[in-house]
Amino acid sequence: MGSIPATRSRFEAVEHKPLGGPFKIEAAYRSDTSEDKVNLGIGAYRDDAGQPWLLPSVAEAKKRMDLPSCTHEYSPLHGIDAFIEPARRLVFGAELDPEIAPFVASMQTVSGTGANSIIAKFLARWIQPQQIWLPAQTWDNHPHIWRQNAPAIQVRDYPYYDQKTCSLDFAGLMATLERDAKEGDAILLHACAHNPTGIDPTEDQWKDIALLCEKKRMFVVFDSAYQGFAFGNLDKDAWSIRHFATHPDLEFAVCQSFSKNLGLYGERVGALHIVTSRNAAPSVALAIRSQLVEIHRGEVSIAPAFGARVATTVLTSEEIFSQWLEDLVFMSGRIKAMRQALFDELVALGTPGSWKHVVDQTGMFSYTGLSTDQVAVMQEKFHIYMLPTGRISICGLRDANVKYVARAIDSVVREGKA
Ligand SMILES: Cc1ncc(COP(=O)(O)O)c(C=O)c1O
Repeated sequence: MGSIPATRSRFEAVEHKPLGGPFKIEAAYRSDTSEDKVNLGIGAYRDDAGQPWLLPSVAEAKKRMDLPSCTHEYSPLHGIDAFIEPARRLVFGAELDPEIAPFVASMQTVSGTGANSIIAKFLARWIQPQQIWLPAQTWDNHPHIWRQNAPAIQVRDYPYYDQKTCSLDFAGLMATLERDAKEGDAILLHACAHNPTGIDPTEDQWKDIALLCEKKRMFVVFDSAYQGFAFGNLDKDAWSIRHFATHPDLEFAVCQSFSKNLGLYGERVGALHIVTSRNAAPSVALAIRSQLVEIHRGEVSIAPAFGARVATTVLTSEEIFSQWLEDLVFMSGRIKAMRQALFDELVALGTPGSWKHVVDQTGMFSYTGLSTDQVAVMQEKFHIYMLPTGRISICGLRDANVKYVARAIDSVVREGKA
């Protein structure tokens, strides 16, 4: 006490951390006063007017919830069972779920980010893998989450995106893991609609990845933030996870988010499911859940209730669920239509290069193949904001701006050729 001069702060050594990734782009976009500006950095669905979209299924769920009389009690520490159970069923499907449920430790989390950080902490505490393998291109928060929550686990990259062909570097992925992954390492896989590349393995490739993970006894962490956004179909988008579940000895986790597929971004709705070997005693899953709860309690205690109640209403009412399926088809359909529109414009302009990857990629994002320098020109000259990696959010495209974006891409690509 008393050693800190009154005019000075003990925090003077704290360094300012500038915004990074999409948040930096968002801030730059907001301060741009040009009427032409286009935000292709956003990681949230936008309608054709560029506005956030309240899903009709979610609107209907809120109507049915009798909001004025909703109380605000604490949920149980592990979360709301009425939410967790249908959330788990959505991951594993009606057929597989009854068989697998006794072997799964599930809890409600603060959306997908919360699930990712809890599994990192849990593995660091209980399994201690030497390395966590992340795809070389991944959501920018993944390395951050692992370094912050599990500093003893070394973060490694496996090849994912082949710059030359704008497709999956499957041979590189397999060879690297085969050579460098150690028995017991952890690996992160995007269940579908890979962020940022928009490229997912094929079913045959998933089968090979599962076999390799089994052979190396790797612990798989599936990040499932876009179920329903790839094919517009919840079952097809869970294929990879359900396939891994057919290997009874493969133990893995699923970080499930409802931010994107229900448009509940700010409500922080998610779950973490850890699947144990089908040879494990059911007490193992219960013990795991008790330890997850222990970690969660020291972090945020209990996940927020409101959004989970909205999700529960959508998941458990037959009529609203059907509406949700339509909403998913609508959102993924608009994204596909915008991919096609951008592709058609680029082809019509005769823009040098092949642009087929724009329509072949899936989900919310596309890796355009534009270089960091070209991205800088897109921003400076055309007021079009995208990540320096060349990633665009297709949701930022709309009928009113797709021609403009295509002409800008055409211009920067030709400039590079000159
Ligand atoms: C791949 C991936 N995982 C997880 C998340 C987490 O989102 P949330 O915390 O909103 O569920 C995101 C969000 O952009 C994402 O792209």
